[in-house]
Amino acid sequence: MEKATAVANPNIAFVKYWGKTDEELNLPANPSLSMNLAALTTVTTVEFRRDLPADLVTVDDRPLAGPALARVLAHLDRVRALAGIDHKAWVASRNDFPAGTGLASSASAFAALSLAATRAAGLWLDEAALSQLARLGSGSACRSVPAGFCLWEGEDDETSYARQVAPAEHWNLTDVVAIVSREHKPVGSHDGHSLAPGSPFYAARLAAVPGWLADAGRGIRQRNLDLLGPAAEADALAMHGVMLTSQPPLLYWEGGTLAVLKAVPDWRREGLDVYFTMDAGPNVHCLCLAATAAEVEGRLRRLGVPEVVVSGPGQGVRLVDHYLF
Ligand code: DP6
Repeated sequence: MEKATAVANPNIAFVKYWGKTDEELNLPANPSLSMNLAALTTVTTVEFRRDLPADLVTVDDRPLAGPALARVLAHLDRVRALAGIDHKAWVASRNDFPAGTGLASSASAFAALSLAATRAAGLWLDEAALSQLARLGSGSACRSVPAGFCLWEGEDDETSYARQVAPAEHWNLTDVVAIVSREHKPVGSHDGHSLAPGSPFYAARLAAVPGWLADAGRGIRQRNLDLLGPAAEADALAMHGVMLTSQPPLLYWEGGTLAVLKAVPDWRREGLDVYFTMDAGPNVHCLCLAATAAEVEGRLRRLGVPEVVVSGPGQGVRLVDHYLF
C-alpha cells in the first residue's frame, strides 16, 4: 500500500447549507454556493498498514479522540469498503489556520482526508465521486473538492456533490475575515443542523434561497459584487435568523460581531464596495475585491478587531509529494 498526502482549502459559502433532508448521508435541504479560501490549508497524510492494531489519527500532532475521532474512523471505513481492504490506517493532519479562531474547518479536513485515503488505498476517484465521498464525512467538504467557485446540488446520495461554476482565476474576490473572538463555540455546525427545522423561519428561508442562488450565481459569472453581495448578506442573516429561533436557540454572535455587521453597510454608504457573510460562529467574513482588501482590513483593525485573515479564491483538493510521517 502507498502513502499519500493531500492538501485542501476550506470554503466560505455565499448561499448556505443549514438543515439536512438526510442526516446520515448529509443531504442538504437546499443547494449552496461557495468559494475555496486559498490562504488556509489542511494537509493530510494517510497510510494503510497491515501491522497496525488500530487506526491512529493525529491533528496538529495531538491524537484525535471522542466524536471527532469517530467521524474520521467512519470515513476511513467508507474508504476501506470501497477499496475492499481491512488494513488499519495511520492518519496525520495539520492545519495552518491561526489556532483557536473558529476557522478550523471540517470542510478542508474531510476533503483532504478523502483524497489522501482513497489514493493510499489504491483508488482513483474522479472529481464528482470524490466530492460525493467528502460530503459523507462533512457536507461542506464536498465544496472543497473542485477548484474555485462551487455549487453543491443534487437530489440523492448519487447526485449530491459539488461542481465548479468558475475557476479560482475567474475573479479576484477576496474574503477578509474578522476574527472577533477566540471563544470556543458552544454548538458546532454539525450539531446545529438538526435544530434548524425547529425554527418557524426555516421554511421561509428555504423558500427564499432560489432567488439568492440565482443572484449569487449571476454575480459570480458576471464578476459583479453588487449582485453577489446583497444575496450573501441576506442569506447569512436569514440563516442566523433560523439559528436564533431554533429550540434551543443558537446565538453565535459576540459584541465584536455586531460592531462589524453594523460597520460594513456604513462603509458601503461611504462608497467602499464590501459585503458580509457569516458561518456558525462569531467571525464575520467581509467580501470585497482584491484591490479593496487592505482598506477593509485597516478599517476592521481600527474597529478593534484583534485578528484578520485575508484570502482570495483557492484551488481544489490536490495531491502533493511530501509526507507528514
Ligand atoms: C454554517 O458542513 O460543518 O458553515 O455536514 O454536519 O459536517 P456537517 O455540517 P457542516 O455545515 C456547514 C454549515 C455552515 C454553512 C455552509 O458552509 O454552507
